[in-house]
Amino acid sequence: MSEQNLATTEHLNNGVEMPRLGLGVWKTDNASAKQSVSEAIQHGYRMIDTAKQYGNETGVGEGIREGLEKSGLNRKDLFVTTKVFNGDQGYQSTLDAINGSLKRLQLTYIDLLLIRWPVDGKYIDTWKAMEQLYRQGKVRAIGISNFDVEHMQNLLDHADITPVVNQMEFHPLQQQKDVLKFAQHAGIQIEAWSPLGGGEVLDNPTLQKIADAHNKSVAQVIIRWDLQRNIITIPKSSHLERIQQNADVFDFELTDAEVETVNNLDEGKSSLWYDDFAWHNMQGEGIPDTVDTWYDSPEDYDK
Ligand code: A2P
Repeated sequence: MSEQNLATTEHLNNGVEMPRLGLGVWKTDNASAKQSVSEAIQHGYRMIDTAKQYGNETGVGEGIREGLEKSGLNRKDLFVTTKVFNGDQGYQSTLDAINGSLKRLQLTYIDLLLIRWPVDGKYIDTWKAMEQLYRQGKVRAIGISNFDVEHMQNLLDHADITPVVNQMEFHPLQQQKDVLKFAQHAGIQIEAWSPLGGGEVLDNPTLQKIADAHNKSVAQVIIRWDLQRNIITIPKSSHLERIQQNADVFDFELTDAEVETVNNLDEGKSSLWYDDFAWHNMQGEGIPDTVDTWYDSPEDYDK
């Protein structure tokens, strides 16, 4: 049995250690984010993932402060990820935007800064600014999110610094195997967002069978599968009981056959809102109404 816990890290390609299991806070408002983040830290979580676009950096910052105080930990014990908002992309705007994130999060540095989305025509300039922020020490590591193979190749062609992480939708029904293969070859760590498929994978009968065999929940089986696949993962929950449950995954191990069974569930299926549109070409066309925040003015998020 592996001796791992919430503090176990993955070695990123720039030498920084990143916890392998953290808390996601997408679709969480400020008040709820404060509570979940604080409770998660007190329960042993060491990595928190947010984004300006989620509109909850302020709540996350308050939760970090409270969680560290109550658990007697220091800032350096925690690994905090945030992301460059689509509307801030570009060179100077990315350099400027970091100050807002730092202020809202009440931090002096970010552990990992990601490009939230590969906005066409802008993401190379955004990356150049992130390289600058990295050299200045405002961020300990820089990475990308939602980049497909073409985006990654283009970025590598222009970058001085290889991204440490590509955070992408990754769960049993959506495994993006081509992206995974390319990233691994390039030394880019994959991190799963919506590892539980936004909750929609949790009633899968195959997964339920594996869960029953280990006396665990389907959520725990998926998180364990991520860990055994060396995928960094950030399940989101606003409920303490689930936050605790999602961290209780270090006392069992999936067999190789079980890992393979889950690998074979891949349908290339996004369970989320962007299913039917070209999400990789975020120029603003064809964006469904449900994503009405994508191109809001950055000022709306500077509060
Ligand atoms: P909630 O926040 O109400 O607990 P993902 O991380 O894939 O986006 O999935 C998050 C969704 O899964 C949320 O709706 C969350 O609900 C739910 N969820 C998180 N952990 C669990 C769990 N252990 N059991 C059941 N549902 C969970």
